[in-house]
Amino acid sequence: MATSVSLTPVGTPWPERSAWPDHLYPLHGPDFARDPFAYYDHLRRHVGPVVPVALEESHSLRGYLVIDHSLQLDILRNQRQIWSRDARWYRDLAEGALPAGHPLIDLSAHRRGRLSAGEPEHAQLSGPGNKALARMDMLRVGDLIQDLADQLIDSFVPEGPRAETVEVDLLRQFALPLPLLVLMRLTGMDEHDALTSGSALHAMLSGAAGAPHATGELAALMDNLVAHKSKEPGADLVSWMLHFNEDGALTPAGLSEDVWLQIAVGHGASTAWICNTVLELLTNERLSEDLAAARCSMDEAMNHVMWSNAPIQNIIGRWATEPTWLGGHRIDVGDMAIVGLGASGADPVRRAVGLETSRTNNAHLGWGAGAHGCPAPARELGALIVRTGLERLWERLPDLELAVPGERLDWVLPHVARTPTALPVRFPRPVAEASQAGADAGEGAPVPGSPATPVVPQPERRHSPFPSAPPRTRSTAGKDEPAGPRGLLPGWRALVAWWPKR
Ligand code: HEM
Repeated sequence: MATSVSLTPVGTPWPERSAWPDHLYPLHGPDFARDPFAYYDHLRRHVGPVVPVALEESHSLRGYLVIDHSLQLDILRNQRQIWSRDARWYRDLAEGALPAGHPLIDLSAHRRGRLSAGEPEHAQLSGPGNKALARMDMLRVGDLIQDLADQLIDSFVPEGPRAETVEVDLLRQFALPLPLLVLMRLTGMDEHDALTSGSALHAMLSGAAGAPHATGELAALMDNLVAHKSKEPGADLVSWMLHFNEDGALTPAGLSEDVWLQIAVGHGASTAWICNTVLELLTNERLSEDLAAARCSMDEAMNHVMWSNAPIQNIIGRWATEPTWLGGHRIDVGDMAIVGLGASGADPVRRAVGLETSRTNNAHLGWGAGAHGCPAPARELGALIVRTGLERLWERLPDLELAVPGERLDWVLPHVARTPTALPVRFPRPVAEASQAGADAGEGAPVPGSPATPVVPQPERRHSPFPSAPPRTRSTAGKDEPAGPRGLLPGWRALVAWWPKR
């Protein structure tokens, strides 16, 4: 319901608005979720590079979908300073015109951290998180990811005769828990809080009835983590963020918000990228043959997926701060642009370029672009999680195949990340491999790297993601050890319960 008191973020009344186009093209429903690319192709041919769209049935959640690569880049780079990432510029939200309780509203809402900030504040707020990520020792992080990936694979490879075929949902049993476990381990959370945070994160992102409660719970957990690490720093991301925040650019609440942001973005995008690359490799014969014959690397297969089925399909969150024109449409102050990264998959120019080019051409916008694009050290970490996880899968389960035809998969709505609702795969149980892995790690084995487990050789050498705790903790005895969670990996069984059963 519109209110006359609503003002723009700079305190002025909203200017007079022109009428929205009569027809809004629907970006919702199961058919759109299953094959958004055919629809984008249709829109590109019959409507143009910018399309007025509705994201749900009531059509009050509306915006302009941008499917042209150069217009997308123009908005994301924002050199003309027209577009804001701050949702207080979202006029429909400010005027209370959105459908109550829709999950995208929470995701789009104004946040107190870098996500909503303009320059120069954005650069200050990003500093601690980006510097801390850049401080990680990627070889150690690679070892950590590899161990977690191997333990997850061990957990679904049962003992039995060679002929036995194993069927698993790779989304629940691998793609979902792997990035979460890695990210939570990096932050230095203990296992109990990691599991609780994971459940809360899932409830929040799935928009279930408990989402507002979960949002509060997650914020409290992050606040506690920051408070704990400021008293007892360790060799972890949060302690290093505190260290790089010595000028106080981030308040404790802002720091906790930034930890939340990294986990939320990193986990969603990595899960989707793993699923979509697995699917591409299992359905695109040429790509998988080239990978097997070393004519293509896993990185190149992942790059191809950035074009064909991007992990983040839409960036919902740029609002006009002044009137402008976009692809022939008049845009008013407070209107929303939706940057349709997934639409590159339907771009005729890209398809004409062909498979080889899409493996090596990294001009895709899968990482975003401009000041709010994915920061370089975060990209490196995300790619490492996905590549290491996929390489372990392909190394250990070379006969992996889809358990249902690809066309029969159901998909979540691709408003943000695009993943199937389940990824059923099957493979013959690899006897020698399973017993070797069992000897190395084994289901129920202690998580390597846990200082509480005496069987683990030199955990700090292989698994601490940071070579040391921040310098100011040197006086505190024993703080150079990783502050990672203690306990057993099979906690992932609880993690998978987060995924909605649709
Ligand atoms: C794994 C694949 C990943 C993909 C495809 C990806 C993609 C993206 C995209 C498209 C954006 C731009 C959002 C916008 O413009 O509104 C973004 C922003 C961001 N990403 Fe990533 N990301 C990935 C992994 C990660 C990881 C692992 C982290 C951190 C640990 C991370 C941290 C961030 C942060 C903090 C931002 C916000 C930047 C800002 O607003 O200043 N991302 N990411």
